[in-house]
Amino acid sequence: MEIRDIRKRAGKDISVAVTAEEINAVRIKYLGRKQGEITTLLRSLKDLSDVEKREKGPLIQNLQNEIEASISFKEEEIKKSGSITDITLPGKRVETGHLNLITQTENEIRRIFNSMNFSVIDGPEMEEEYYNFDALNIPLDHPAREMWDTFWIKSKKGDSAQKKYLLRTHTSPVQVRYMQKHKPPFQVISIGKTFRYEATDATHETNFHQVEGLMIGKQIPLANFKFVINEFFRQFFSEKTVKIRLRSSYFPFVEPGVEVDIKLDNSRWLEMLGAGMVHPKVLQTVGYDSREWQGFAFGLGVERLAIIKYKIPDIRLFASQDLKFIKKF
Ligand code: DAH
Repeated sequence: MEIRDIRKRAGKDISVAVTAEEINAVRIKYLGRKQGEITTLLRSLKDLSDVEKREKGPLIQNLQNEIEASISFKEEEIKKSGSITDITLPGKRVETGHLNLITQTENEIRRIFNSMNFSVIDGPEMEEEYYNFDALNIPLDHPAREMWDTFWIKSKKGDSAQKKYLLRTHTSPVQVRYMQKHKPPFQVISIGKTFRYEATDATHETNFHQVEGLMIGKQIPLANFKFVINEFFRQFFSEKTVKIRLRSSYFPFVEPGVEVDIKLDNSRWLEMLGAGMVHPKVLQTVGYDSREWQGFAFGLGVERLAIIKYKIPDIRLFASQDLKFIKKF
């Protein structure tokens, strides 16, 4: 009875062992010199009568040989294969990359404006001085040019003397390029890289990202902007209650110009973006009749949005290749 039971259990233990440690534990359990089950059985023979000894002795001996053989066989197998594949083990996780937090934030911004029927447009990162400044009502001698520290591109011999290139300091030139080619009404956004020739610190980067918005129609007052931007923040900071306020401000390409502050739950007011009604001069520059068409524009920092939403302490982390930061998002 006991012998049959041991044979059954040992057979099962041997078959489920997949590592050298596991098979070794099976060996100790049954054949161990001190407490092994077979060893104990053999030892107990001495208390039996001679008749019983003769009857049981060979049976136990046989079982011992059998188990010894099975264990040795399994040990060989494990040695040969390294270890035996256990299909019930969880699979190895393959490490894959993921989108950078800036891209994730841009996708979220696009999704929200798409939900309000804005289309997405694009423009060049290396821009002509004309689009970055002049066409936005910032002529060469305009003091407002100092608002944007600029990376200028060296011109090659043979470039026309009039065309100077730079890395765009904001996404506003995309407005001009789009309006030159399209008739209103429309509502668009453009997201992309912008560059400033500045010293970097926790809140300044030479390379960052902006969202430009532009909506032109026959009756698009500033109240319309207020609704759109409020809806944007409501969706973007969906877990918080958002209040906004407009403060009057100055940008050469809008009149009136405003800055928008937001307040999330009970935080203090945070300055978020510049905006305004597109300046009649800008509308005229692209050939629109400024008595017929009007609308708003705005420019918003992508990093700033992410910094506030995800409580990021330093803007330089986005491009730092710091794995701890990258893996967090
Ligand atoms: N381009 C401005 C900047 O980068 C931001 C801005 C302000 C954009 C007002 C606008 C606007 O479209 O209307 O500083």
